[in-house]
Amino acid sequence: TGAVTYDPGFMNTANTKSSITYIDGDHGILRYRGYPIEQLAEQSSFLEVSYLLIYGELPTDQELADFDNVTRRHTLLHEELKNFFSGFPRDAHPMPVLSSAVSALSTYYPDSLDPFNPDHVERSTYRLLAKLPTIAAYAYKKSVGQPMLYPDNSLNLAENLLRGCFGVPAEPYEVDPDVAKALDTLLILHADHEQNCSTSTVRLVGSAQANLFASVSAGVNALYGPAHGGANEAVLKMLREIQARDVTPETFMEKVKNKEDGVRLMGFGHRVYKNYDPRARIVKGLADDLLAKLGGDDELFDIAQRLESKALEDDYFVERKLYPNVDFYTGLIYKALGFPEKMFTVLFALGRLPGWIAQWREMNSDGATKIGRPRQIYTGEGLRNYPS
Ligand code: CMC
Repeated sequence: TGAVTYDPGFMNTANTKSSITYIDGDHGILRYRGYPIEQLAEQSSFLEVSYLLIYGELPTDQELADFDNVTRRHTLLHEELKNFFSGFPRDAHPMPVLSSAVSALSTYYPDSLDPFNPDHVERSTYRLLAKLPTIAAYAYKKSVGQPMLYPDNSLNLAENLLRGCFGVPAEPYEVDPDVAKALDTLLILHADHEQNCSTSTVRLVGSAQANLFASVSAGVNALYGPAHGGANEAVLKMLREIQARDVTPETFMEKVKNKEDGVRLMGFGHRVYKNYDPRARIVKGLADDLLAKLGGDDELFDIAQRLESKALEDDYFVERKLYPNVDFYTGLIYKALGFPEKMFTVLFALGRLPGWIAQWREMNSDGATKIGRPRQIYTGEGLRNYPS
């Protein structure tokens, strides 16, 4: 077995080779398949980026049209799966509802479960891409006590999600194109981030030859944690607490720096970025534009900006190279778009889905994937005899 290296949190251990996403954390660079995130956010669409991540190249017009068609045609959930949503308490958090429903997809599609059959993999890929927004909208509708709307396949993914959440059967829903575009851009920014916690989880579960639904469901659960995707919800909670308790951002920062009660500045810091997160820069610009148009919560935005400028010039943050990450401003945008805080991490999950799929497929296409099985350093008792 040889010597075991102790590396808690995988600070220095690469578990895989990958050609999907490139990050240079010291210089704040992020590229999907070689394309800079700034260019994709500005010029591409979430659907095209999903194709790029999963298949490795930008699609031709025909390939994009086919991909669009197949993902639009699979948005419906099985009618029986709708009953499933009634089994949760009214105030259920939508993340565990999402992971449970994704896991349940395995029970409906026996033709999509074999990780080594290319047709099965294709089917589970487009089923997940098409059905996750519907599941997310149903989880939301359930939480507000409104009827679930069948998806409208004349709409694209972001538009359908907005209609699914905010439309009602009694009247037509007009999608605001600026809102749909902003949501689409946010999904692009979240679409992959190499071996983060949820993606590594998807790979680890998949390495046991679990099917794609089971692997993605595990990824959703990992993302739920506040140190990962749950941070966007935690940022808003933190901003509201500062606002409600009338604590100044300056006093709050002292608490963070003194590590009182383990309080952290949520939305700051990153394992890989030791510079400004390039996604956060784009999100900040988007927040500026969108909050001006939609009239977001200026007071919370102001608190966030004060926290940021305070942190960027503070020795504690400078020495530790802590900068805003993608989650710092996204919550304020989601809030302005009308989403309640509980939905924020669900939106992250919808964005990260193509990355999870691409990474899982890359792992299985390798053909020689070993099951993920970390070692340990045993620190327990030596041999003890059971008292006779
Ligand atoms: N506020 C205050 N101090 C912090 C923060 C923070 N947000 N993040 C790190 N530190 C300190 C930490 O206390 C430690 O200080 P010291 O050396 O004195 O013990 C030092 O910086 C290094 O932190 P770490 O926890 O060892 O770093 P990590 O790479 O293990 O953790 C992180 C990365 C993202 C979990 C962490 O920065 C964090 O908890 N941030 C807040 C939660 C957050 O915003 N998460 C979203 C991450 S980006 C989106 C995603 O991928 O999900």
